[in-house]
Amino acid sequence: MQMQSPSPLLFILATIILTQLSKNCYSSSLNSFIYVGCSQLKYNPGSPFESNLNSILTSIVSAASSANYNNFKIALPGSAQGDVAYGLFQCRGDLASADCRQCVSAAVARLRATCSGATGGALQLEGCFVRFDNESFVGAEDKTVAADRCGPLVGDDSGERGSVLSYLGAGGQFFRVSEAGKVQGMAQCVQDLSVGECQDCLSDAVERLRTQCGSAAWGDMFFAKCYARYSERGYTSKPENDDDDDDEELDKTLAIFIGLVAGVAILVVFLSFLSKALDHKGNSS
Ligand SMILES: *[C@@H]1O[C@H](CO)[C@@H](O)[C@H](O)[C@H]1NC(C)=O
Repeated sequence: MQMQSPSPLLFILATIILTQLSKNCYSSSLNSFIYVGCSQLKYNPGSPFESNLNSILTSIVSAASSANYNNFKIALPGSAQGDVAYGLFQCRGDLASADCRQCVSAAVARLRATCSGATGGALQLEGCFVRFDNESFVGAEDKTVAADRCGPLVGDDSGERGSVLSYLGAGGQFFRVSEAGKVQGMAQCVQDLSVGECQDCLSDAVERLRTQCGSAAWGDMFFAKCYARYSERGYTSKPENDDDDDDEELDKTLAIFIGLVAGVAILVVFLSFLSKALDHKGNSS
């Protein structure tokens, strides 16, 4: 009997696995954790606010599949004045909608777990930002420092850092990128700000980054409503102990695919036995 070679099948499987793994690695870097903050105040479980909050978080995830920014105010029937929930999400300006949705849904899941029971929470991942509260914060400029960190000191870079920072602070869109030599930078405002407020927020963030991180290889300045960052090629601001959830996700994906490969292998062996058995039967009759 002619046994079919299993190599095309294995090749296809290997391709699927590699594609899936690389996709996972990419999205896990968009999901890299930057900061989270939860309000100290707690709401009563089962309260109308809880329903409004759940509704906000669901709306945020579904809106993220078709826009890079949106804000919501939800008061379902039966809500009192104090039960209103406010929320918004902002994806990095260069993300495609599939990546935005993926990032926002990871952010919301993490926010639900970390700020469980809190009346407010804000979470920044590499690719997106999500915030909710029972007090209105939408449309208000807020230059509170949420996270700031500097890389190792590397000294002079013949003005490249300075020129990237000047460009980021000089004006323009809600999302800005800049590159000079080996230094690249990025800035983003939450789009509930006006263009003028965004500019004011970013020029402060950039100024603070310049003063604080001086001659570091990279620097991050996250304000509540805008951020500016830069890094030299060869350096990354990604923290060492990155998002555990992503590792879990990766493990899960691996387990599923190893299971799939094993399953297909068993099927192939079984089918070849079966066809051999049928062959023999055919010969003997
Ligand atoms: C938000 O919730 C806290 C805790 O329940 C409450 O004390 C506060 O008044 C609420 N704020 C508004 C604007 O309703």
